[in-house]
Amino acid sequence: MVEKTSDEILGKAYDSKLMKRLLTYVKPYKKYVVLAIFLNVFVAGLAPLRPYLTKIAIDESIANKDYESLTFITALLFASLLFQAVMQYGLTYFTQLMGQKIIYDLRVQIFSHVQKLALKFFDKTPVGRIVTRVTNDVESLNELFSSGIVMVFSDLFIIFWIFVFMFSLSFDLSLITLSVLPALFYATFLFRKKVREAYRDVRFHLARLNSYMQERVGGINIVQLFNKQKRELNKFKEINKDYRDANIKSVFYYAIFYPTVEILSSLAVALIIWYGGGKVFESTMTLGILFAFVQYTEMFFRPIRDLSEKYNIMQTAMASSERIFKLLDENTVIPDPEKPVIPGNIKGKIEFKNVTFAYNEGEDVLKNVSFTIEPGQTVAIVGATGAGKTSIISLLSRFYEPQKGEILIDGININNMRKEDLRKMICVVLQDVLLFSGSIKSNINLNNSEIPDTKIAEAAEMVGAQKFISGLPAKYDEEVHEKGAKLSMGQKQLISFARALAYDPKILILDEATASVDTETEILIQNAIKKLLSGRTSIVIAHRLSTIQNSDKIIVMHKGEIKEMGTHQELLAKRGIYFKLYQLQYKDQEITKTA
Ligand code: CTP
Ligand code: MG
Repeated sequence: MVEKTSDEILGKAYDSKLMKRLLTYVKPYKKYVVLAIFLNVFVAGLAPLRPYLTKIAIDESIANKDYESLTFITALLFASLLFQAVMQYGLTYFTQLMGQKIIYDLRVQIFSHVQKLALKFFDKTPVGRIVTRVTNDVESLNELFSSGIVMVFSDLFIIFWIFVFMFSLSFDLSLITLSVLPALFYATFLFRKKVREAYRDVRFHLARLNSYMQERVGGINIVQLFNKQKRELNKFKEINKDYRDANIKSVFYYAIFYPTVEILSSLAVALIIWYGGGKVFESTMTLGILFAFVQYTEMFFRPIRDLSEKYNIMQTAMASSERIFKLLDENTVIPDPEKPVIPGNIKGKIEFKNVTFAYNEGEDVLKNVSFTIEPGQTVAIVGATGAGKTSIISLLSRFYEPQKGEILIDGININNMRKEDLRKMICVVLQDVLLFSGSIKSNINLNNSEIPDTKIAEAAEMVGAQKFISGLPAKYDEEVHEKGAKLSMGQKQLISFARALAYDPKILILDEATASVDTETEILIQNAIKKLLSGRTSIVIAHRLSTIQNSDKIIVMHKGEIKEMGTHQELLAKRGIYFKLYQLQYKDQEITKTA
């Protein structure tokens, strides 16, 4: 069985707590609500007026052969239709406008909130789910704001007016119309229950479909490399079939419900004609009243039928808002201190003091890690994959918080700084370079207009990216697609170096990619790294030991612990882990050289 997710929250059709919170979003647009209600009163009041006018036309104008009043009433009927059309236009326009403005605000709020969340949250939340919140869920709230709330109000209003007119015309006939209501309510009740269940299945299978699609398209190269298309297609067909069947099921209930309402309303009309007709024979009722009643009865069923649709809008919206609020209430954030220490002129001394850290409770990834890096020094961290190297720099950038120990920069505990100030001094060039869609230029300055073009070019020149950039058709304005698809690994690496240089941080962290590049690019990258490191405190996580032989200190990590620390020569002399690593790589190089 597939694991159920929050996409399946069934939701009540009405939850006063959620509604209250939703209404806070309407607050800034109060004037639209007032306008909508005002228009509503007109629209809802006009429709029930027409059968009454028809009654007068039949009973008075036609019965008395009064052409003048007949013309007048016809004109009145026409005018009311016209007026209603204009009002309807305004109503639709303003409610939609309000809905769009509200969901605009919501999307901004969600995005800004998500940006603040700590990495820990993203470790456990699939991206697809967050995207769904900003798109699908917000969209279903639009329906609530633009048609739901106001229209429910208008439907109730129409029903009320129809009641008033019906009862003032004829008590018996009103009772006849109402006599089919129990059957109608029962049908509606059944329909709601079934549709609710079907709807849950639809959502569930849609979520499955989305995430499957997203993952397979994201990993399309793997799928193709391993010739898994056929298998993936079959799996997709299966999920798609479940989704289709769930949809068909919900369509089925709709297909049954609408004719049922139609039959019930026709039944009521037939009863009225039969009973009212008898009364007309007896002359205890006028033809006009009978005629008006037929119209009222038909008019009466429409909002009732629509109400069940509104019910679905409400329910979808409640479920969506519950999910949205859950995301907005997510408070996995790393807080800034109340009284932050504003670092002055940073020299760049880094200290780790007995730092212990676990991503998940009880599984220590770093154990009692202590080291000091003097300003301007370059320190290398080496160790097998999973040893905890990247974790060290994640802590230094405060993406996560250690369970024990402290991390100091120039003697200031990083917990006492604002994250913003901290991250301004640090620049991390990550293992997997991430480029954004946009130009080469915007990928170097990250749209920071304070970094002038000359500085961008200078940075690119220094890291040796200039050569390939000038070879691009649009040079610095060349568009880079999602994740930098157009560029090679090495080129992406150089761009990320240029980014670091352009930002000119006090502390530079380099998480070297394991992927190897061709010799020419390798030389470019090595030279770029040399330029990057000079004049600042640097931490280099290197897989190629050639990169780090000149560093001031090498830290050897093993399973979350520091096992060795010293210069290249000192560590070789020790004949420990580093020595073994070095020998292994040295042997590799010998093999590639002779090959
Ligand atoms: N880990 C985790 N949750 C994360 C990241 C890492 O539980 N979000 C765990 C990994 O399973 C690993 C340990 O933390 O066992 C250390 O990970 P990391 O510091 O990333 O290891 P590195 O030394 O950087 O490994 P590599 O050389 O492969 O980059
Ligand atoms: Mg790593």
